[in-house]
Amino acid sequence: MVESVKESNSSNISNKNIKPIVEYKKVHKSFGDVEVLKGLDLNIFPGEKVALIGPSGSGKTTIIRMLMTLEQPTSGEIIVDGKNLWHMEKNGKLVPASEKHLREVRGDIGMVFQHFNLFPHMTILQNCMTAPVQVQKEDKESAKKRSIEMLEKVGLGDKLDNYPNQLSGGQKQRVAMARALVMRPKIMLFDEVTSALDPELVGEVLEVIRDIAKEGEMAMVLVTHEMDFALEVADRVIFLDDGVIAEEGKPSEVLEESNNERLQQFLYRFRS
Ligand SMILES: Nc1ncnc2c1ncn2[C@@H]1O[C@H](COP(=O)(O)OP(=O)(O)OP(=O)(O)O)[C@@H](O)[C@H]1O
Ligand SMILES: [Mg+2]
Repeated sequence: MVESVKESNSSNISNKNIKPIVEYKKVHKSFGDVEVLKGLDLNIFPGEKVALIGPSGSGKTTIIRMLMTLEQPTSGEIIVDGKNLWHMEKNGKLVPASEKHLREVRGDIGMVFQHFNLFPHMTILQNCMTAPVQVQKEDKESAKKRSIEMLEKVGLGDKLDNYPNQLSGGQKQRVAMARALVMRPKIMLFDEVTSALDPELVGEVLEVIRDIAKEGEMAMVLVTHEMDFALEVADRVIFLDDGVIAEEGKPSEVLEESNNERLQQFLYRFRS
């Protein structure tokens, strides 16, 4: 089963004629005097599953927050499906993007956070339906139908009318995934989605991600400390260190065969 995930994607990635769905071009990001990203160049291809690993503070969250428009690059460009995310064309010139432009381009992207970020006053069905109805102006009945389908897919078809505080952490995280999937993103971003969970709940959440990955068509960027999971699900692993990509390649090359010293030190912590 796992092999089939990779096979379905490897053809995409090896085919150089396929255009990336996301391009970071010489992206720099500083917070005050601290330069966190020092010229990031990164292409992500349609359907590709990318695991992003690296020490705490290396900029993993910053990379995906910039794509989600929660953080603006200091310089450089991010292109999503051929469209410049942070800039738009006006009278033949590139100018800073308007809110409307950001919203449109961001429409292709879904994100699941470490701390779920569900609306506490809404049932889990309402949590899923809200954005399609409010943002995408989808008809309520069709949004409801698709939300139920997604909640069933993540194994929560019997909890539609529950509120988030009636669910376990693993269940909440599965709602967060259903809520992102309902928006039919072309790219899904996962930021350490299992690290706030009790160990016994991690498996059920990884299982859902594994299932989504198998479907194949969505690109996925997974910030994770679950190295075995990265090895299994990712097409490519990227090791971020000191503001740049210090190593990247097939999961086995990066996680098992690389001689990069910083990467060795980093991985050492995960070995039992
Ligand atoms: N809004 C912010 N204001 C100031 N500094 C920030 C902000 N966001 C991130 N940083 C700093 O940028 C650096 C990179 O942060 P980031 O959260 O991207 O790291 P990370 O690789 O995701 O780390 P972790 O594994 O701990 O989640 C850190 O030094 C962090 O303190
Ligand atoms: Mg982080």
